Amino acid sequence: MSQIIMETINLNKAFSLGETIYAVNNVNIQLAAGSMNVIVGPSGSGKSTLLSLLGGLDRPMSGDILLQGQSYRALSEDKLALLRRHKLGYVFQFFNLIPHLTALENVMLPLQFVNMPNREAKKRGLELLERVGLSKRSHHLPLQLSGGEQQRVAIARSLANNPAIILADEPTGNLDTKTRDGIVALFQELNQQEGQTFVMVTHDPSLGKFADKIITMKDGTVISQ
Ligand SMILES: Nc1ncnc2c1ncn2[C@@H]1O[C@H](COP(=O)(O)OP(=O)(O)OP(=O)(O)O)[C@@H](O)[C@H]1O
Ligand SMILES: [Mg+2]
Repeated sequence: MSQIIMETINLNKAFSLGETIYAVNNVNIQLAAGSMNVIVGPSGSGKSTLLSLLGGLDRPMSGDILLQGQSYRALSEDKLALLRRHKLGYVFQFFNLIPHLTALENVMLPLQFVNMPNREAKKRGLELLERVGLSKRSHHLPLQLSGGEQQRVAIARSLANNPAIILADEPTGNLDTKTRDGIVALFQELNQQEGQTFVMVTHDPSLGKFADKIITMKDGTVISQ
């Protein structure tokens, strides 16, 4: 069996707004190193919540996550932030680009967090924008870009620090067929050639087609994987 890069142990997250919602309810999953994983399930089933727990962006109520054997629970906020910067890449459901930074500056941000010299960061930022087909938009602000273009900036940003794991929430949701095929090919290439592990929430069959594992969620629980 291939090596496990990430696993969850009895992971729980609830929200209390009047009634208590068990958004992630006792989830146990194992992700193989270099695998392509897809999370599917109806709206409200806990997909985005699970992804932000895996990304260390949110703390679980109970349970734990291990990344390359390292327990998130054992880490201080500072150490968890370091782990995020060095090992993880994110594409958020609503992109989360910084509005007053250009496309290029947004892509360079994760590199500045790991203290890459500016010249090098700029070079890598431009290369990544080129890979997602946006080399002509590097100086645009997010508001000056279409939804699909913003999404591609978010994808370029998620790849900047060459993360071991890329967590993406509907990364191809708003893209036209041609752009989507380009992004799917890029993910496939990174997965097969660089061995990067992907965890993606998606309803897109073109991503599901080459998934090693499909995790189906319903009401906060994993009903099949
Ligand atoms: N910050 C929050 N406070 C309160 N409830 C929340 C919060 N975030 C999520 N929830 C609730 O937790 C449940 C799971 O939400 P989540 O966003 O994970 O669903 P999802 O599967 O990603 O849905 P979608 O496909 O619509 O994006 C939902 O019932 C949602 O209302
Ligand atoms: Mg969601």
